[in-house]
Amino acid sequence: MSDTAFNQLVPFLQKAEGRYLWIADENLLSAQLSPSDNIQVITNRIDLEARLLNQGWKVFFSDYDFSIIEDNSLDSIIYRVSKEKPVVHHVINESYRCLKPGGQLIMAGDKGEGIKTYFSKGKKLFGDGQSVKATKDIWQVTLHKLKSDKAEPLDDKDYPTLRVTVADEQFDYYSKPGVFGWDKVDKGSAFLIEHLDQFLMTLPEPPKNALDLGCGYGYLSLNISQLDIPVTASDNNAAAILACQRNFDRYPINGKVIPASCAEGISEKFDLIICNPPFHAGFSVDGDLTDRFLKATHDRLNERGVACFVTNLHIPLERKALQYFHQAECIAANGNFKLVRLTHKA
Ligand SMILES: C[S@@+](CC[C@H](N)C(=O)[O-])C[C@H]1O[C@@H](n2cnc3c(N)ncnc32)[C@H](O)[C@@H]1O
Repeated sequence: MSDTAFNQLVPFLQKAEGRYLWIADENLLSAQLSPSDNIQVITNRIDLEARLLNQGWKVFFSDYDFSIIEDNSLDSIIYRVSKEKPVVHHVINESYRCLKPGGQLIMAGDKGEGIKTYFSKGKKLFGDGQSVKATKDIWQVTLHKLKSDKAEPLDDKDYPTLRVTVADEQFDYYSKPGVFGWDKVDKGSAFLIEHLDQFLMTLPEPPKNALDLGCGYGYLSLNISQLDIPVTASDNNAAAILACQRNFDRYPINGKVIPASCAEGISEKFDLIICNPPFHAGFSVDGDLTDRFLKATHDRLNERGVACFVTNLHIPLERKALQYFHQAECIAANGNFKLVRLTHKA
């Protein structure tokens, strides 16, 4: 699936001269470009890292950690804006630090994603810039670093710092911007934990281990750890892995936090899999992601194991799940969410 905003940036990547940095996020999971020696890539998605490495790119997987790049060292940075404002502000601030005077940050995005506001805020920081309307809604903007004095950075909500954002009777949860729903408990995940006892009663035997697929900062993992079994938590997002690992270390949780896309590379099998699956990759709804999460659950679930997915009521999860499981049954629902129980056998 091609991304119209990113397409505006492709010509810049193709004729890159000097020292370039390309910031690639989940919007670009299907990007196919010839690699270039003078372009370094940073991505916060492990699946995108794997794909770009395979194409021959020089890639770092990190939570947009620019600390490897010296001040005033780059000629150009290319960035298709991300979904979350603090992430974009962090990238603009760090780009300003890393670019040489006269260097440029070239961005693209949709009006609805705030590209025009990013441009006007960024221009104040950088000193100069131009914007070009590429289509009815898509803008390509360039910020030129003119000022060398200390300018006011954009509010990135202290992007790099892990902090306690939510607490309940059992846990303080560490999180940070860049993690899904970073400063709250997701209502669907809360619904799953409220009905955990009811779900556990349907298990043929007590589980001996558990997998939290798409763990975010680890809300489900921490709650499941109270069953006193080892818990494996996995996500494809670098910020989620940092936050979840911090929560595992703090309590400490018996288990592992593994960066992986849809559990790829995890060979262990599990008695219990819990999942609040994503339905968006970047700005677009990705139906195929649901299938990949169901397939991963099928592959990682023990023969007598049981999985529990929480989704919005309108998602036809049971129908999709029957391609992979013998049984897919809704065991609880409210006006917004449902819990679907998946098993290999009746
Ligand atoms: C709806 S959120 C749930 C997060 C967390 N379990 C919670 O309850 O707060 C879905 C999670 O799936 C992750 N995700 C998206 N695509 C993924 C992929 N291909 N592989 C693994 N995780 C993915 C997202 O980063 C996000 O953390």
